[in-house]
Amino acid sequence: MYRIGQEEKDAVARVIDTRDLFKINNGMHETEQCEALMREIFGVKRSLLMTSGLSALTSALIGMGIGPGDEVIVPAYTYIATAMAVVQAGAIPVIAEIDETLTLDPDAAEKKITERTKCIIPVHIQGFPCDMDHICAVAKKHGLFVLEDACQADGGSYKGKRLGTHGNAGALSFNQFKIITAGEGGALITDDDKIYERALIYHDASAIAFFGDQLKDVTEPQFCGTEWRTNEVAAAILHQQFLKLDGILSDLRKNKKLLAERLAPKYKFNPSNDIEGDCGTTLPVLFDTEEEARAFAEKASQAKVGNYLPIDTGKHIYNHWTAILEKRGALHPLMDPFKHPANAPYVPDYPNETYPKMLDLLARTTYLLTDPDWTEERIEEIAKAL
Ligand SMILES: Cc1ncc(COP(=O)(O)O)c(C=O)c1O
Repeated sequence: MYRIGQEEKDAVARVIDTRDLFKINNGMHETEQCEALMREIFGVKRSLLMTSGLSALTSALIGMGIGPGDEVIVPAYTYIATAMAVVQAGAIPVIAEIDETLTLDPDAAEKKITERTKCIIPVHIQGFPCDMDHICAVAKKHGLFVLEDACQADGGSYKGKRLGTHGNAGALSFNQFKIITAGEGGALITDDDKIYERALIYHDASAIAFFGDQLKDVTEPQFCGTEWRTNEVAAAILHQQFLKLDGILSDLRKNKKLLAERLAPKYKFNPSNDIEGDCGTTLPVLFDTEEEARAFAEKASQAKVGNYLPIDTGKHIYNHWTAILEKRGALHPLMDPFKHPANAPYVPDYPNETYPKMLDLLARTTYLLTDPDWTEERIEEIAKAL
């Protein structure tokens, strides 16, 4: 979260005054307006607010028709939710190595493709854009879906086009720690009517037929699903947050660039697939050794700059994904995709897989966390301290 204040307070007060907090009863004013703004910002046909990034990822995979017998490629460096979405859809996450940009290595992903692979999930981790041209080319060659996990990259872009709009669908998160927030929240964006309609049905399966005329133009048949519907309070906050998004991004990028320019004579940075589209939240400083990275982090702490080594981020690294590593895909064994007869013979031996490049890069990198509200004087002060 970066900027939240009076506009969000006023928006919430307006909703409370209507006494209609449910998404559909009051005519979906806030939800509809926020989704319309998202379609404009992202240049997509369809947008669907829901309760989290994980729900957006899972709904997208369900919308693609992915399930038991299928494999989905995910990077070894991502939040566990990316892999969990695959399991929730009934399929098997197949882990692939990252490259120097700290995002999915397209060649490593291609090597993991089998006849069961249905989708690749590139993750724009820390707002770093993935190599979408290469990933989309691999997916096209093998006839796969691409689902962009842009949960840490709300509003970023690659080659001038927003992250989440390069593949078949994109997932965004608005939890407390994301670029824009309503405390919790997520969204699916897509141009694909079938993915959208199925995600619409799945994410709100019980209420969809009973409230409003939501199924009016839907051609996909109803099926059982879950309950991840948004509400008018969250949508009202997010509407205001979306209005602030490009201002936040432009200040983050400006400050990241200024700090990088000042540090460049002395330090080197992890390469980017598109530094212009990068969200600007994080300056990754790359060292020859972990000791140097840790010493630099210590200096940054003394200068009161948010920092950490990505190797220390637990659930963002595959070897901390306990539920996946221990293959507990559901509480009930008959619901567990890892035990499903269509999957069981192909479940990877996760604990014995190694991704040495990722472990090495993450241990030699220190993240400096940028602030959109830094002044030039503050940046100068930080640069001098470092
Ligand atoms: C890369 C990534 N994917 C998915 C998610 C899931 O988002 P949420 O917490 O909104 O479910 C997160 C959240 O931290 C994330 O960082």
